[in-house]
Order: sequence, then C-alpha cells, then structure tokens
Amino acid sequence: MTQRPIIQIERLSKTYDGGFQALKSVDLEIREGEIFALLGPNGAGKSTLINIVCGIVTPTDGRVLADGHDIQKDFRAAREKIGLVPQELLTDAFETVWATTRFSRGLFGKKHDAAYLEEVLRDLSLWEKKDAKIMQLSGGMKRRVLIAKALSHEPRILFLDEPSAGVDVELRHGMWQMVRKLRDRGVTIILTTHYIEEAEEMADRIGVISEGRLVVVEDKDVLMKKLGKKQLELNLRAPLGAVPDALADLPLELTGDGKTLVYTFDTQTEETGIADLLRRLGDHGVDFTDLHSKESSLEEIFVRLIHESKRSEPEPAESTAPKGAR
Ligand SMILES: Nc1ncnc2c1ncn2[C@@H]1O[C@H](COP(=O)(O)OP(=O)(O)O)[C@@H](O)[C@H]1O
Ligand SMILES: [Mg+2]
Repeated sequence: MTQRPIIQIERLSKTYDGGFQALKSVDLEIREGEIFALLGPNGAGKSTLINIVCGIVTPTDGRVLADGHDIQKDFRAAREKIGLVPQELLTDAFETVWATTRFSRGLFGKKHDAAYLEEVLRDLSLWEKKDAKIMQLSGGMKRRVLIAKALSHEPRILFLDEPSAGVDVELRHGMWQMVRKLRDRGVTIILTTHYIEEAEEMADRIGVISEGRLVVVEDKDVLMKKLGKKQLELNLRAPLGAVPDALADLPLELTGDGKTLVYTFDTQTEETGIADLLRRLGDHGVDFTDLHSKESSLEEIFVRLIHESKRSEPEPAESTAPKGAR
C-alpha cells in the first residue's frame, strides 16, 4: 500500500432539503490500495458521504477529489475511476446478468471486453448465471450482480455501501474474500458498515462517523490497541462506600452499589499490575469472593467513541448553509 491519497475529501457538508444536516465539515483522505471501513450507526451519514463522492448527491459545501479529479468540476473523469455498489438493491429485473454488466461498462464509454467481463463474473461465481434474468436470481446473487456492474468498467476505487446488510454469513465471507482479492489487485476499497465485525475483519483503517461528524480515523490495529482496555472485576465480600484512600493511586472504580471493584489496565503494557493490586487489597482488608477479566472489543470502543462525541458536541449554531442545494 502506498500513502498516496486517492480520494481527498475537504470540509464536506450536506444539508438536505428541509434543513437536515447530514454531514458536518468532514475531512478525510483515502489512501491508494487500502481497505477503509466507514463505521457508524444508522443515520450517521455514511451513505450521504458515499453518494456525494459518487455524484449521486450534491454537496452543500466542501470538495472531493477522486484520483486528483474534482467530482463536480471534472465529473466524468472522477466518476470513471469509481465503482459503486449501492445500499439499495435496484437492478433491471428483465435483463440478463451478462447484458446488464456489459451495459454498465458501456455507460462509462469503455470498449466492450468479453474476456474481462467473463473474469469478473467468474470471480463472483455468476458465470453459470450469465444468461439468467436478474429477477430469477436469489438476493445474494442480485447483490453480486451489483458488484459485477460496479466492476464492469475496471474502476480503481470501489465503494461498497453496507455490503453485508441482509446477507447470510456464508455469502458475507465469500464477499470478504472477493474484496481482499480486489485489494490485492490494487483496487482501493471503501466500505460502510454498521457491523463492527466486518470492520474488524476487513479494514486497514477505520473511520467512525456519528451524526454527520467524523469522530476518529485510525489504523485498525492502532485503534484497537490505543482504545482497547482490559478490566478485572472483583466481586467484594462486603460492599464499600468508596475506594479506600490508600488505593486512590490505582485505576479503580466502584460499581454495582459498591459490591464490584473494577480495575482497568492497558492491553499494551507488559506489567498489568494485578499482582500488586491483589497484594494491596489484602493489606487493606478488602476481601473478594470472585474475580474475572474482560477485554474491550471494537464494539465497546465504538460505543464509547459515539458516546463521547455526542457529549462533546458543540451547541448547534444557526446554519448559514443555503437550503435545498441538492
Ligand atoms: N434525501 C434525503 N432527504 C432528507 N434527509 C435525508 C435524505 N437522505 C438521507 N437523509 C437523512 O440524512 C441522515 C443520514 O442518512 P444516511 O447518509 O443515509 O445515513 P447512513 O447511511 O449512515 O445510515 C439520516 O438522518 C437520513 O434520514
Ligand atoms: Mg446507509
């Protein structure tokens, strides 16, 4: 993977007709060759962001460059670099798989290339179905047809909007495999998901979006290391009113009506400090009946980030953006 940015998003904002602000000054660079997961709850603005980059929604403010081309001023050149697998399953029911894929390629002014289209359909296990009408296909196959269409013009950047929504586990894993294969061929992949597992499994980097704001962008491993904590929970024999002063220097928290003591430690450090903790608890007569440890998952990290971003949300200012700019 190079560090060259292939998508540059600057101060991107979107206010829909009616005044709802779906994106709030988003800055983001996607690196060539990476798999980037945009993670966020429903309504966070993921599809809005993708649809702007793909030219389906007009931004209210800011700009986007795709491989150096401004998506508004230089739309054709920018769009040609991009394949989009949309969230909604809309395809032409009466067309065959082959015809619809071939037609999609033609839309981008690319010369017909039977060998390439065959390769795409074979990769997606659709070759046997190439003469089937789309309405005859299962939901999973229809989604793969959307992927074939998105790949038909050999884009260098592929957007997958909620590729796993409504897809069974087997198909999901097949799709992940295919996405990795594309990445190995140099295609940059941006996927949106509200499944943490998907981001955890697939992404090189993760961006978390909440209420139209990009809350964090980080290497997945760094994100999980930096924010991942382990906790040791001790069930106390007798409830405490407060953490004893003599233990105030330790990362301890009292929960469960004073019946549970929670010790938080970093997953990065070699020394957990647990032996020291247990010795000092003994010294101060804090007795416990049971203890267990747990590790924060990407899920917990995600929930915490969303929660913190909402707490630190500035008071909404009067919007100066023109309405109905779509
Ligand atoms: N065409 C539209 N008009 C008005 N509001 C919209 C429109 N499209 C999306 N929204 C609103 O913008 C917010 C973000 O939507 P979306 O980008 O689809 O979120 P996500 O993909 O993260 O679930 C939601 O509150 C949604 O209701
Ligand atoms: Mg969406």
